[in-house]
Amino acid sequence: MIDKEFHLERPLRWGMVGGGRGSEIGYIHKNSALRDGLFTLVAAAFDVNPERGREFGRNLGVDESRLYDNYKEMFEKEAQREDGIEAVSIATPNFLHYEMATAALNAGLHVVCEKPLCFTVKEAEALRKLAIEKQRVFGVTYGYTGYPMVHQARKMIENGDLGEIRIINTQFAHGFSSGMSELTSANTRWRQDPKIAGPTYVIGDIGTHALFLAETMVPGLKIEKLLCSPDTFVKSRAPMEDNAVVLMKFTNGASGTLWASAVNAGSMHQQKIRVVGSKASIEWWDEYPNQLRYEIQGKPAQVLERGMDYLYLDDDMVNSFRIGGGHAEGLFDAWANLYRRFGTAMDRVNHGERVEDVMKDLWFPNVNDGVEGVRFVENCVRSRDQNSVWVDYQ
Ligand SMILES: NC(=O)c1ccc[n+]([C@@H]2O[C@H](COP(=O)([O-])OP(=O)(O)OC[C@H]3O[C@@H](n4cnc5c(N)ncnc54)[C@H](O)[C@@H]3O)[C@@H](O)[C@H]2O)c1
Repeated sequence: MIDKEFHLERPLRWGMVGGGRGSEIGYIHKNSALRDGLFTLVAAAFDVNPERGREFGRNLGVDESRLYDNYKEMFEKEAQREDGIEAVSIATPNFLHYEMATAALNAGLHVVCEKPLCFTVKEAEALRKLAIEKQRVFGVTYGYTGYPMVHQARKMIENGDLGEIRIINTQFAHGFSSGMSELTSANTRWRQDPKIAGPTYVIGDIGTHALFLAETMVPGLKIEKLLCSPDTFVKSRAPMEDNAVVLMKFTNGASGTLWASAVNAGSMHQQKIRVVGSKASIEWWDEYPNQLRYEIQGKPAQVLERGMDYLYLDDDMVNSFRIGGGHAEGLFDAWANLYRRFGTAMDRVNHGERVEDVMKDLWFPNVNDGVEGVRFVENCVRSRDQNSVWVDYQ
C-alpha cells in the first residue's frame, strides 16, 4: 500500500508552465506531483496572462520572486539559482509543447509534458533525441494508465490468461461537443483550431489516450496498417473531425478498432477497451476503474476488484494501492501513481543511472510513448487525406 513513504534524499524542485487558474488539467498536475512528497512546487509561469498567473501562484503560496512572465524567463532565471528547478511540467495548449519542451531540455530540466506531444513525428523524434542526449527524464501524462487495474490486465495478457490476442477494440467517445460547445468553452474552441491543436481534433485529443491504453495493456503492440474514417458532424468544425473510427491490423496478427468521438451524445467518457484472446477476453471502462471484467469462454463472467489478494499485482508503485479494496480509487490516484514514477525515474537519473536504462527498468509513459501518439495521428491523417484508404504504418 502506498502510504506517502519515499526514499529520495529530498523532494525534487519542480516548476509548472501553463495549468493556470481555470485550466482543465492544471490542478491534477499539482495535486498528483505534490501528493507523495517527491516534488515541491517552487516556480511557475502558469498563464498566458502573466498578471493572472502571478496572482494565482501567490494564492498557491509560491514565492513571488519565482513567478515568471513566461517560460523563457523562468528557465533562464532558475538556471542562475543554486536552488533552481530540476524538473518542469508543461500543461499548455498543444502548439506550445514542442518549443517549451525543447527549451526545458536545453536548460537541463527533466520534463513532464502533456499529450499530444507535438504536431509531427519529426518534432517528436527530435524531442526524444534531445532527451537522451541531455540524459533527462521525459514523462507524458497519459493519466488513465496509472490505474492499477490497467496493469492487472497487462499482467494477465503477459501471463497468457487470454491466450493469443485476436481483437483489440478501444474507444474514448464522450458527448460533450454534441452541440456547439465551442461557443461557450474556450478550451473546446482551441481544440478545434489546427494552428493550436494540431492536424486533428478528437484523434489527437482523446484517440491518443485510447491508443496508449491498448499499448499499455498489450505489451509490444505495434500497428502494421490502418484506415482512418473521420466525420465532422458539426459542420462549422471542418476540416477538423469531431468523430473518427480507425481500423487497425497489428503486427502480431490481431485486428482492432479505435473510436474517438466528442459527439457521442449522452456519454460522459465511454473510454473503454476490450481485448479478446483465443481463450478469454477482458474489458475495462474508466468510469469503473476499480473493476476489470474477465470472461473465459464457456464459463460465467467474472468481475475482478482492485485491492483483492487474487490479483497478480505486486507491491511496486503503480500496481499497489492507496486504500484497500471496496474504497473507490480515482483519477487523482492514477495520476499520482504516474508522478510517483516520474519522480523516481528523475531521482535515479540524478544519481547517475542512464535514462535509457531507467526507461527499460521502470514503467512510466515516457518520450517513446509520446512519439507513438504523434505517429498514430500522422498515419491517421495520411489515410484521411487519401479519402480513408488503408495505409502502411510508418
Ligand atoms: N492528460 C490528460 O488527461 C489531459 C486532459 C486535458 C487536457 N490535456 C492536455 O493538457 C494541455 C492543456 O489543456 P487544458 O484543457 O488544460 O487547456 P486550457 O486551455 O484549459 O488551459 C491552458 C493553460 O495554459 C496556459 N497557457 C497558455 N499559453 C501559455 C503560455 N504561453 N505560457 C504559460 N501558460 C500558458 C493558459 O493560461 C491556461 O492556464 C493540452 O495539451 C491538452 O491536450 C491532457
